[in-house]
Amino acid sequence: MPTIHQVAERAGVSSTTVSHVINNTRYVSPETRERVLRAMEELNYRPNVLARSLRRGETRTLGLILPDSANPFFAEVARALEFAAFRAGYNVIFGNSENDLEKEQVYVDVLVTKQVDGLIFMATGDRSQSLETLVRGGLPVVVVDRQLSALEVDTVLTDNLQGGLLATRYLIAGGHRRIGCITGPSHLTPSAQRVIGYRQALQEAGLEVDEALMVRGDFHPRSGYEAARRLLELRPLPTALFACNDMMAIGALRALAEAGLRVPEDFSIVGYDDIELASYAAPPLTTIRQDKVAIAESALRLALERIAQPELPARCETLPVELVERQSTRRMA
Ligand code: RIB
Repeated sequence: MPTIHQVAERAGVSSTTVSHVINNTRYVSPETRERVLRAMEELNYRPNVLARSLRRGETRTLGLILPDSANPFFAEVARALEFAAFRAGYNVIFGNSENDLEKEQVYVDVLVTKQVDGLIFMATGDRSQSLETLVRGGLPVVVVDRQLSALEVDTVLTDNLQGGLLATRYLIAGGHRRIGCITGPSHLTPSAQRVIGYRQALQEAGLEVDEALMVRGDFHPRSGYEAARRLLELRPLPTALFACNDMMAIGALRALAEAGLRVPEDFSIVGYDDIELASYAAPPLTTIRQDKVAIAESALRLALERIAQPELPARCETLPVELVERQSTRRMA
């Protein structure tokens, strides 16, 4: 069985450097990392991970559970988290719950079995049973994006109510009076709060809140397409809509095009998230920006602080959002 010293000799580095590459305990240049990994491959060297983790009581690995890895919002948060964690000497293992509570539970169990040092948890719904025992048992957990009302746990949110307000106020300021809203799943706090912001903006402008103008989606593009088709059957026709995420806004763009409505000449649309795709939609989407990097870095910081100081009181951080104006909206003539 080759030793770490033989790997070091073959790669022309110290054994300490080889250890840093294996454990991600310090930044190592890509060139050096590549030489070490090649030497490990050529010598068929396999570090004894279990021995290391038992020795230290840590695996320097974080678990991440997210509801839908195909949704760019979650993918972009996951990418930012992995990048920041790797720089901090941690690996990330992620599980995709596919918005399924049972699958979410499976991944919580899998990640605990893998002895992750901490868990970043983007919940499928407002259910905390799968986490309660873990948090009480001392596993560092950070809940991100969807609040778990029944659990005292480190949490990172964004100001969803403000986001709904900003989007709707912006359309009202543009002269729109009949504004549709394509909501996300009503049981998820982010969508529910955005809709509260939508309603509040209409009320403060003295506009009627017409329930027919609110159509439920599920955060996927098809639901945005179908919801927009329903809104376009209403009379009088709305002149704008606020979609509670960009993926549904992109689905709505297709329905508007099929109805022969030009955006923004005939109809305005505002999305939510500011995923990378939003600025490449046709036309580029006006949207509410959630800072995915800031969300990831806040979650990582809270997790590492909790790992270092388990006795800290639970913290909740709410990050601001901002309106990003592009070409999918215009003022009414
Ligand atoms: O696009 C997915 C949505 O689910 C985002 O708006 C995010 O806030 C999450 O709740």
